[in-house]
Amino acid sequence: MLLEVKNLDAGYGYLQILRSVSLNIDKGEYVCIIGPNGAGKSTTMKSIIGLIAPMGGTVVFNGEDITGMSASQITTKGISFVSEEMNLFVNMSVQENLYMGAYTIKDKKIQKNRLDFVFSLFPRLAERKAQLAGTMSGGERKMLAIGRGMMSDPKLLLVDEPSFGLAPQLVANVFESLDVLKSQGVTILLVEQNVTKTLAVTDRGYILENGKIGLKGKSRDLADNPHVRKVFLGV
Ligand SMILES: Nc1ncnc2c1ncn2[C@@H]1O[C@H](COP(=O)(O)OP(=O)(O)OP(=O)(O)O)[C@@H](O)[C@H]1O
Ligand SMILES: [Mg+2]
Repeated sequence: MLLEVKNLDAGYGYLQILRSVSLNIDKGEYVCIIGPNGAGKSTTMKSIIGLIAPMGGTVVFNGEDITGMSASQITTKGISFVSEEMNLFVNMSVQENLYMGAYTIKDKKIQKNRLDFVFSLFPRLAERKAQLAGTMSGGERKMLAIGRGMMSDPKLLLVDEPSFGLAPQLVANVFESLDVLKSQGVTILLVEQNVTKTLAVTDRGYILENGKIGLKGKSRDLADNPHVRKVFLGV
């Protein structure tokens, strides 16, 4: 198992959001978390990557207990997080932003190889490598954020709502890029509001409601589940 989250409690200050969340991901799997606004999806990702310290429970990655480690330590272990906010450096170029994602790699030659890999994934970024990140379009910025997440050569990529706010064609582009990553063996945990599409492309899923995992299972079974259909698909 690549990632094992066990009985995770987490929140902000005294406010507990996650209640005993357990989930696991095998190497090479494409897994999603689906849930309403405020359910705790982003909180789950932030706890895994170490941006917030768990109140209880454990996070084991690649056989190592990483519970309570800092985000930069966890990144070094091989997890990368593409957040909703993306946090791009708007006054830096596309290429400079990408190199920021490779800070855990010391060898300049390996960094350059990663850059070439990301440029091959997203030719648009190569064409615009000198452009300021702040002037890229919404979809291009998403590609840049995902590309930057790939620069550290992660074993596990956490992606929080990559399609949010994008027009349908760009949504399709984002899902295509994730498919490419999956086919190259990258393990992905995806949080998405686009439930139909997400359940169509992922292997397995977890339904998070009010900080708790309700349902879990194969994505195609979740897509047929009456509760999922009623709450998330409106049918
Ligand atoms: N920094 C914070 N301080 C206090 N409460 C927070 C903080 N961040 C998130 N919350 C609260 O935690 C709960 C879960 O938030 P979270 O961002 O994990 O939800 P989500 O499932 O990602 O929702 P969305 O689909 O809207 O992104 C929400 O009620 C939110 O208001
Ligand atoms: Mg969120």
